[in-house]
Amino acid sequence: MPGAIYAEGLVKTFGDVRALDGVDLDVPEGTVLGLLGPNGAGKTTTVRCLTTLLRPDSGKAVVAGIDVLKQPNEVRRSIGLSGQFAAVDEYLTGRENLHMVGQLYQMRSKQAKVRAVELLEQFHLTDAADRPAKTYSGGMRRRLDLAAALVVSPPVMFMDEPTTGLDPRNRQQLWEVIKDLVSGGTTLLLTTQYLEEADHLAHEIAVVDQGRVIARGTADQLKARTGGERVEVVVHEREHIETASEVLRGFGKGDTTVEQHTRKLTVPVTGGAKLLAEVIRELDTRGIEIDDIGLRRPTLDDVFLSLTGHHAEADDQENGTDEDAKGRKGKKDDKEAAK
Ligand SMILES: Nc1ncnc2c1ncn2[C@@H]1O[C@H](COP(=O)(O)OP(=O)(O)O)[C@@H](O)[C@H]1O
Ligand SMILES: [Mg+2]
Repeated sequence: MPGAIYAEGLVKTFGDVRALDGVDLDVPEGTVLGLLGPNGAGKTTTVRCLTTLLRPDSGKAVVAGIDVLKQPNEVRRSIGLSGQFAAVDEYLTGRENLHMVGQLYQMRSKQAKVRAVELLEQFHLTDAADRPAKTYSGGMRRRLDLAAALVVSPPVMFMDEPTTGLDPRNRQQLWEVIKDLVSGGTTLLLTTQYLEEADHLAHEIAVVDQGRVIARGTADQLKARTGGERVEVVVHEREHIETASEVLRGFGKGDTTVEQHTRKLTVPVTGGAKLLAEVIRELDTRGIEIDDIGLRRPTLDDVFLSLTGHHAEADDQENGTDEDAKGRKGKKDDKEAAK
C-alpha cells in the first residue's frame, strides 16, 4: 500500500534540462518528508508535478490515494500548497485574504470568517489581522501564506522552502507552527536547503541532486555519513598546537586534524554546546590562548560533499573552484539556522 505521497520514476525535462531524472518517493501517512537539496536540484519541479501544476513527461504519482495524472482535480481538493512565492494579495488584510480563500473553496461566508479567525489565532496574526498584507514582515507573510493553504485543512500538505529568506527568529517561529500542524496528523512534504530544518521537522529526509534522490534516511543517519558535529579551535600560538591537540583528543570521537598554517584544529564530537564549554575550560586551564572556537554542525554542503564529492552549490558557481568561499557560506548558513 503506497503512502500518502507516492512517486515512481518521475521525469520532467525543460528543453535540454533534465529537471527530474527519475524521482521516487514514498511518504507514509501522517509523516513529514524533507526534500533536501541545493538550488536547481529539482525540488520545486517535484512539488509542482505532485500538486498537478506541472505534467511530468513520464512516471507515476499518487497523492492521498488519488492518481495525480488521471484525476488532477480530485487531487487538488485533497492538498494544500504553500509556495516560496506567496499567493497572498498585498492589498487585502490578513483576515480578508483568508476569507477570500475560504470563498474560493466555496465555504459559506460565515464559515469562512470563523475559519479565518481560527487561523489568524493559530498563526499569531490576530493583532495584525486588519492591516493590509503589504505592511507585514517577511515572517508574517509566510505565516499568512501557510494559513491560506490550511483554510480547508487538507490531509496532505506541500511546502516549498517555507523558511528561505527568513531571519533565524522568524524561522524558529515558523518551525513551531509547522510542528503543531503535523502533530495533528497531516502528511507533509517540505523542501528545504537547510539540513538543520529537515532535522527539526522531518521524519525522513530525501536528498536530491540533479533531479534524482541520491540518499534517504533520518537526519542522524545522514549526519553520521558526514562525520557529524565537530569542534574547531584556532589557537593563538603555533607552539600550543601540540597541547591543544592533546586536549581535543580527550574529548573527541575520532582523529583530530590540524591545519598548521591557520593554527586550526578540528575534532569530531558528540555532546554539542555543553561539551564545547568543557573544551574551553580545559584549554583555559592548560593556559592555551585561543583566537576562535566553535561548534560546527554538518550542513547540507557537508552532506553533499560526502555523498557526491562535490559542493552543494557547485552548479551555481561561475567557476566551481572557489571552495573556500563556498565553505564559509555553508558555515554561515548553518550558524544562522542554529540560532
Ligand atoms: N519552467 C522551467 N523552464 C526551464 N527550466 C526550468 C523550469 N523550471 C525549472 N527548470 C530547471 O530545472 C532544474 C530544477 O529546477 P527546480 O525544480 O526549480 O529546482 P529547485 O527547486 O531544487 O531549486 C533547474 O535546472 C531549473 O533551471
Ligand atoms: Mg525551488
